[in-house]
Amino acid sequence: MKYQVSQQAAAEVQAACIVVTIDQSGKLSDAAAVIDQASDGFLSKRYEAGDIKGKTAETLLLPGVSGIAAARVLLVGSGKETPNTTNAIKILNAVAAATSKYEGSVALALSELASEALPESWWAEQTAIAYAHASYKFTETKAKPEEEPKQAEAVIWLGGDVDTAFLKGSAIGEGINFAKELGNMPPNICTPTWLAEQAISLTADSALETMILDQEKLAELGAGAFYSVAKGSSEPGKIIVMQYKGTDASEAPHMILGKGITFDTGGISLKPGLKMDEMKYDMCGAASVFGTVKALLALKPKINVLAMVTSAENMPAGHASKPGDVVTSLSGKTIEILNTDAEGRLVLCDALTYGIDNYKPASIVDIATLTGACMAALGEVNSGLFTQDEDMAEQLQTAAKYSNDKVWRLPLEDDYQELLDSNFADMANIGGPLAGATTAACFLSRFTEGTPWAHLDIAGTAWKGGAAKGATGRPVSLLVNYLLNK
Ligand code: BES
Ligand code: MN
Ligand code: ZN
Repeated sequence: MKYQVSQQAAAEVQAACIVVTIDQSGKLSDAAAVIDQASDGFLSKRYEAGDIKGKTAETLLLPGVSGIAAARVLLVGSGKETPNTTNAIKILNAVAAATSKYEGSVALALSELASEALPESWWAEQTAIAYAHASYKFTETKAKPEEEPKQAEAVIWLGGDVDTAFLKGSAIGEGINFAKELGNMPPNICTPTWLAEQAISLTADSALETMILDQEKLAELGAGAFYSVAKGSSEPGKIIVMQYKGTDASEAPHMILGKGITFDTGGISLKPGLKMDEMKYDMCGAASVFGTVKALLALKPKINVLAMVTSAENMPAGHASKPGDVVTSLSGKTIEILNTDAEGRLVLCDALTYGIDNYKPASIVDIATLTGACMAALGEVNSGLFTQDEDMAEQLQTAAKYSNDKVWRLPLEDDYQELLDSNFADMANIGGPLAGATTAACFLSRFTEGTPWAHLDIAGTAWKGGAAKGATGRPVSLLVNYLLNK
């Protein structure tokens, strides 16, 4: 999709469709009023006839409006008051869904909706993300259609100079779509080896260096926690290390680390069968890291980023770990595995140690579909944010607000640590039935001492169930904004 900026009048712009707005009191935007005048009051008549009420994201398509250069007018409701973040994104998604298939270009007269809180550049950025969303469909494992689906060629923004915002939004949109694609891939294709291949493909860009650590090498290094999960599968586990180099090598990188369990059966602590297929999404933390790398490569910010993925399949097998096993992590700390279904923290802890020891990162964010408890607490709206570092919390909350890729801070106090006590090892891998999302974060915190660190539990936000089942691409938008603010 191309993005252009123009100052043409709304009635004169040549396009397959022009998009203008009306609010819930029936007030047309200035651009809509121009079209109304040129068409002998056609838009006001539609409002008076009750065809549209002006509710947030309501749409009315009007083809062949006389006196207008564009082939169609899409009238969109802007709601009661100046749209807030959530409503703005609803409006843009409705606009993109309605117009993205038109052959030719789509003109958007939306700049009047901008406010101090949501400036025009923010609207433009979100517009590009909305069009990326609208263009995404998972087709990889379906029979190929004879014709490629149509897509609009260009979006023409009627307003100020927002070119850089479009570049940023397009990069984030592509990153999100990449994350969705990886998340949606079936687990017989999307294995740790396949994820490693994705990382190698991204290395075509010289700003990225990739290194793959395989399971045997990791066992040799002493990554016993990672190995205890990976060894139960005949698909070999991998830790994938991608270094994005945007500035001087002397500058410490910011580390992001994604959980990449390509399928989580629970292992010997086997999960119930219902909806077990959804455990293919247990690599969505990894997918968000890949999506973020993709966006970084498009935007080339002057920062260094250490992007890591820790990937394995969690299977029951003769050579799988058992409840009661004690393993030694890469840090030297021992772990009693009381439940093999708490595997995410086991693969993450060794990757955290590896990253810290070898690359001395300035900060770390890990992203993981870690606990059902977090999903129960926050649903599909907010990702869980855990950190004891107030700066990290602030930075992530700021980026989350800006991108509408929301987070909610949950406790990570030392008082919870004792729930991980074990009689047989330095810690257990589960903390019992209470505060499950927090005890998982407490476990990880023991492997990040000395480095500013935050944990995002995306179990509820990384995919949707039901009819619209699929990966969401979250929290790519949050991560990209967080890193760009560095
Ligand atoms: N991948 C799951 C967490 C999960 C569950 C994500 C449901 C999304 C939906 C994780 O590996 C897991 O199994 N966690 C256990 C931990 C428990 C054994 C302490 C859980 O949440 O039940
Ligand atoms: Mn599990
Ligand atoms: Zn899992």
